[in-house]
Amino acid sequence: MVIDNKTIWITGASSGIGEACAYLYAREGVDLILTATRADRLAEVQAECIRLGAQCVILPYDLTDLAHIDELTDKAIAAFGKIDIAFLNAGISQRSKILETDGKVDEKIMAVNFFAPVKISRRLLPDMIKKGGGTIAVTTSISGKFGFPLRSAYASSKFALYGFFETLHAEYYDQNIRVVMVCPGRVKTNISYNALEADGRKHGQMDDGQNSGISAEKAAKKIVKAIDKQKPEVLVGGKELLMVYIKRFFPGLARKMVRKIKAT
Ligand SMILES: NC(=O)c1ccc[n+]([C@@H]2O[C@H](COP(=O)([O-])OP(=O)(O)OC[C@H]3O[C@@H](n4cnc5c(N)ncnc54)[C@H](OP(=O)(O)O)[C@@H]3O)[C@@H](O)[C@H]2O)c1
Repeated sequence: MVIDNKTIWITGASSGIGEACAYLYAREGVDLILTATRADRLAEVQAECIRLGAQCVILPYDLTDLAHIDELTDKAIAAFGKIDIAFLNAGISQRSKILETDGKVDEKIMAVNFFAPVKISRRLLPDMIKKGGGTIAVTTSISGKFGFPLRSAYASSKFALYGFFETLHAEYYDQNIRVVMVCPGRVKTNISYNALEADGRKHGQMDDGQNSGISAEKAAKKIVKAIDKQKPEVLVGGKELLMVYIKRFFPGLARKMVRKIKAT
């Protein structure tokens, strides 16, 4: 990897994909900044990153608090004086039908999954540009490619990321800013356990689909490589990724398949 002397900020680093990527980067001896809500869990990840050879700072933060994200971003920049790669990966999923879903669930999911990465990027970009450029990687989902039952707000947040970050890519490419859209299918993490139900409570179960996903470590290898190569987009997962191509080339068939899916 060509990441000597790089500083990498990962959000959603306390578990799953973000944690696995943190360890891969730590082995390369980069400077890491890690964010998630759970300070105690982040401290454990930090200790492991330091053991693996990285300098590592943690910035615990609840990304639903949009009002103070500029301060969080300033702290992240100040930690090592620059950010070369921001991996905006924190996210929460959903398990509820539209008519049953409390509006607060929509707002929370949009805040963490969409508005937080938007606000972080807007604050970060001027500094990245001033220092010669940088990479913003953002975790979307195959649910950002087609609607899926029980995921109305989740899919909306992930669709929205494509609109914002493809625009960012076009507007700031000439200033040496690169965007990597990380698009997982199924990865075996806590995502279904932490997903929100109609009233905002945690789903609290590992869904069968999630359980059959690839490991976070396997996903992380592909993601870190794609970020290193500044690929505009990387699909990560197993056979479920076929749906992305079915939607692209046979949209009518994709709609029919999604209607018939027994979603959990
Ligand atoms: N796993 C999959 O199959 C899959 C598929 C498609 C897309 N994705 C996306 O991949 C990303 C990572 O998810 P994962 O699968 O690794 O799930 P995960 O194990 O549940 O990790 C989610 C991470 O996001 C953080 N997070 C959640 N709410 C937050 C908040 N309010 N403020 C700050 N951090 C918050 C969590 O930190 P705390 O627990 O400490 O709050 C955790 O570190 C998400 O964007 C998800 O949508 C995953």
